[in-house]
Amino acid sequence: MKRSSDGHNKDSSMNEAGCIDEAVSQQAAHVTRMEGSASCYVNAALQATPGDHSGFFNPKMKLNRDLTICTLGAAVSQRALRFSDERLPPPQCLDAFAASGILGIRWALEAARGAELVIAINDADHYCSELMMQNCALNGLPVGKPGTQDSLKADAPQVEMHVSCRRADALLHEQCFDFIHLDPFGSCVPHLDSAVAQAPHKGVISLTATDTSALFGIYPDVTYRLYGARTSASQREYFREVGARLLLAAVARAAARHGRGVTPLLAVNAEHFLQVVVRVSKGARAADASLKQIMPLHSCPACGERGFAATGSVPCSCATSGAPSAPETAGPMWSGSLYDSDFLKDAAEAASTTKTLNKQVAPLLARLQEEAAAPALYYNVPKLCETGGGPPKLDTLVSVLRAKGYLASRTHFDPRSIRCSASLLQIKEAIASITGQA
Ligand SMILES: C[S@@+](CC[C@H](N)C(=O)[O-])C[C@H]1O[C@@H](n2cnc3c(N)ncnc32)[C@H](O)[C@@H]1O
Ligand SMILES: [Zn+2]
Repeated sequence: MKRSSDGHNKDSSMNEAGCIDEAVSQQAAHVTRMEGSASCYVNAALQATPGDHSGFFNPKMKLNRDLTICTLGAAVSQRALRFSDERLPPPQCLDAFAASGILGIRWALEAARGAELVIAINDADHYCSELMMQNCALNGLPVGKPGTQDSLKADAPQVEMHVSCRRADALLHEQCFDFIHLDPFGSCVPHLDSAVAQAPHKGVISLTATDTSALFGIYPDVTYRLYGARTSASQREYFREVGARLLLAAVARAAARHGRGVTPLLAVNAEHFLQVVVRVSKGARAADASLKQIMPLHSCPACGERGFAATGSVPCSCATSGAPSAPETAGPMWSGSLYDSDFLKDAAEAASTTKTLNKQVAPLLARLQEEAAAPALYYNVPKLCETGGGPPKLDTLVSVLRAKGYLASRTHFDPRSIRCSASLLQIKEAIASITGQA
C-alpha cells in the first residue's frame, strides 16, 4: 500500500478476501528493530523509504506509539474505576492499521501492567499479518483465536493477542472494541464512520492523522473536501490547533450520524502527526450536544482578536471604532475543550510507571495538563511585540498573567505562543509591564 501526495491511499490489488496482495510482500527480507520492550521484524526494504513497502515501520513515530501506550493505560484505568464490578470483561483493544504490529505488542508488554487485555492487531496487507504473527512469537505472546482463551499459556502475560488481515472498516463494523487506534496512511476521514458505528458507550477512540497539509490548511481545497471547512489567513497564527479542531469536528459529525457524541480527551501535534483521542457517549442527546460544539471561528484582521461564535462577531471593538476590514471566518470546527484533565492525569500516571518511553513524553503530558485549564486559541507572543521590541520570557509572561487572575499557559502546539483568558489588549499590557515598553 502506498501513500499518494494528497494523503490518500493508492489502490493496491485486493484479493477475494478484500486483503492487499503486493509483489513485494512475497520476497521481502526482514530486519529486527527494538522499540520499548518489543523486538520486531520489519521489512528490510523500509530502511530506504518507510512508506513505500509493506511492513511499514517508521522509528520517528515512536513518540506517537509512546503516547498511545499512555492513552491506553489511562483508558483502562478509567474503565476499571467506572465499573467496580469484578465480572467486567477485559477491555477489547484494536490497532486497526497495525503494519508490523509493534504498537499492539508494546501495549501487551508495556501498557497492560498486570491488567487483563484483549489486543487485536489488524492490517489489510497479507505480508503485515504474517509479520505480526512472527512478531507476537518473537515477543513471547501467544496468539488466540477470536473469542477464545485457548492458546493462553499459564505463564503468559494477562493479555490475549489476536492477529487479523482485514480491511479495517469491515472489521470495525463487525466487532465492538473498547479502545480503537487508527493510524492509516494519511487521512483518518474515510474510516471515521466505521470507527464510531459500533463504539460502545464510554469507548475510547485514538486517531493519528498525517494529512497535516489538509488539516493545517496548506491546500484549502483538500481541507474543504475532507473536513468541510474553509481556511482564513488569520488562522495561520494558530494553525496547528485549528488542525486538531477540524479533525475533532469530523469525528463528532461521524459519531452523530451513528447516534453518538464525543468528548475530546487529548490533542497533540508532534513530528509530522496530529493525534486526537475521544471518549464516545451513546445517545441522540450526546450527539446533538457534540454537534453544537462545531462552530465557525471569526478573527479580526485589524487587531488579531478571535473567537468562536455561531454569528460573525469578534470580541474586539475595531468595527465600532471604524477599522476598515471585515472579520475573517474559518471553519466550522470543534470549539470546545481539547482535553480532559482526569484523563491526562491518568495518562501521566501511566507514563511515570513506564520506563521505555521517550524523554519528552512526561513533559509533554504535563504541558497538556496546563493547557487543559487554559482557553482555546493561543497568541503568538513575538507577533504581539512586533512594534515594541523583543518578547518577554514566556514563562514570566504566563506568571504575570496568572498573578493578574487570568487563566494562562504555554502551549505544546507552538513554543512561542501562550493561551490566555485575557483580551489581546490586556495581554499586550502585561507584556509592556515586563518589557517596560508602553
Ligand atoms: C501508517 S501504517 C501503520 C503504522 C503502524 N501504526 C505503526 O505504528 O507502525 C498504515 C498501515 O495500514 C495498512 N492499511 C492500508 N489500508 C488498510 C485498510 N483499509 N485496512 C487495514 N489496514 C490498511 C497498511 O498496510 C499499513 O501497514
Ligand atoms: Zn479587532
